Amino acid sequence: MLSDKDRIFTNIYGREDFRLAGARKRGDWDGTAAILARGRDGIVAEMKASNLRGRGGAGFPTGLKWSFMPKVSDGRPHYLVINGDESEPGTCKDREIIRHEPHKLIESALIASFAMGAHTAYIYIRGEYYNESRNLQVAIDEAYEAGLIGRNACGSGWDFDFFIHRGAGAYICGEETALLESLEGKKGLPRMKPPFPAAMGLYGCPTTVNNVESIAVASTILRRGGAWFSSFGRPNNVGTKLFAISGHVNRPCVVEEELGLPMREIIERHAGGVRGGWDNLLAVIPGGCSVPILPKATCDTVLMDFDALRAERSGLGTAAMIVMDRSTDVVEAIARFARFFKHESCGQCTPCREGTGWMMRVMDRMVKGRAEIEEIDMLEQVTRQVEGHTICALGDAAAWPIQGLIRHFRPVMEERIAAYKAAHPSGVKGAGL
Ligand code: NAI
Ligand code: SF4
Repeated sequence: MLSDKDRIFTNIYGREDFRLAGARKRGDWDGTAAILARGRDGIVAEMKASNLRGRGGAGFPTGLKWSFMPKVSDGRPHYLVINGDESEPGTCKDREIIRHEPHKLIESALIASFAMGAHTAYIYIRGEYYNESRNLQVAIDEAYEAGLIGRNACGSGWDFDFFIHRGAGAYICGEETALLESLEGKKGLPRMKPPFPAAMGLYGCPTTVNNVESIAVASTILRRGGAWFSSFGRPNNVGTKLFAISGHVNRPCVVEEELGLPMREIIERHAGGVRGGWDNLLAVIPGGCSVPILPKATCDTVLMDFDALRAERSGLGTAAMIVMDRSTDVVEAIARFARFFKHESCGQCTPCREGTGWMMRVMDRMVKGRAEIEEIDMLEQVTRQVEGHTICALGDAAAWPIQGLIRHFRPVMEERIAAYKAAHPSGVKGAGL
């Protein structure tokens, strides 16, 4: 368990001043010029040594991603783009950073941009985070005023500008290439990868897109060292991490903990436990609605990190734990996600455009039991046709929750179908697509 002295986000609950004076008391902007003086290679090497894996959901190694940026400019500007379009249901961790620790984010953005040869950083914030973006703008203005960013940032000789761009409510704009399209003023349609953004990103220029949390921890890692950060957790799953715990717990919260702790311990220690006690638990979605649900038996022992959750055929995702007690209609819960993904699909590729609608319609019937038993397998096969056959990860994200439901809660679906049949002996009406 993490002690207070090892927490990176010491103002995550907003108990102290988010402005520059408060941030300085917490150690932000202390010796930033000295960090920059370590040079681009030194900073990237320290980030690699930290073994930080991206905190937006995919877990790609952050230092490695930074190292993909060209060392020498071919004349095109480089950009850092921070993904603050936090829209994954259940996920609200970046929000706390933006509103309560904005200076940690700005300082880290300066360091990251310098390390990648970028003079400009944009943060794309989901439109609903209006108050959060206002706090961040206050902090940006303060940083300019104090000479911490802008021309000759922190007296380092490096010019650095930081801009906020607010989204307009489309979940797909959180996908990194759709985000870049949106930032360029176009419709947020994901691009094919490769090319990855480091080769061709914003305005066709070398760009790194990082999640808010991935960037915000950088200043502390550079101050305390990569070895310090990687001393928490387990190999390949290191560091501290923000967990958002919601649903049927006694005290929903966002908390910073080390990776690799038992799920049960995190829920009981920080969220006051499951409503009605641990035995009342039905299931947990461990990483936002894109990852498969896990039944109580798995939750009893599983560790909260990338590899442990992958071994259970789920994922850490955004580390947003959605806790469901026994009162939950689990089929309805997953059907609601199916409706969400259908609504948010951009429609560019056929398996996702058609598949999400198909899955949604069948799931809506499954909620009532108005289906044939064989349709459970058919539904599963459709998820396999969508998964891995689309331009972006939204197709996978739509398929996986349903796969998890079928894997762990097939008997619930079957019972519901049997009950409907018993109540309607003349037959199931409206089965099919
Ligand atoms: P991804 O695995 O395609 O990419 C992850 C990152 O690594 C990207 O920045 C990508 O450009 C980079 N990358 C991967 N392979 C690379 C290579 N060979 N060369 C250079 N760069 C490479 O995953 P993606 O689509 O970026 O993210 C999916 C995840 O996002 C999901 O697992 C989900 O958990 C999460 N998510 C988070 C949301 C949020 O609100 N934070 C919303 C929706 C999804
Ligand atoms: Fe659009 Fe879905 Fe294809 Fe992603 S997978 S590009 S959201 S249609």
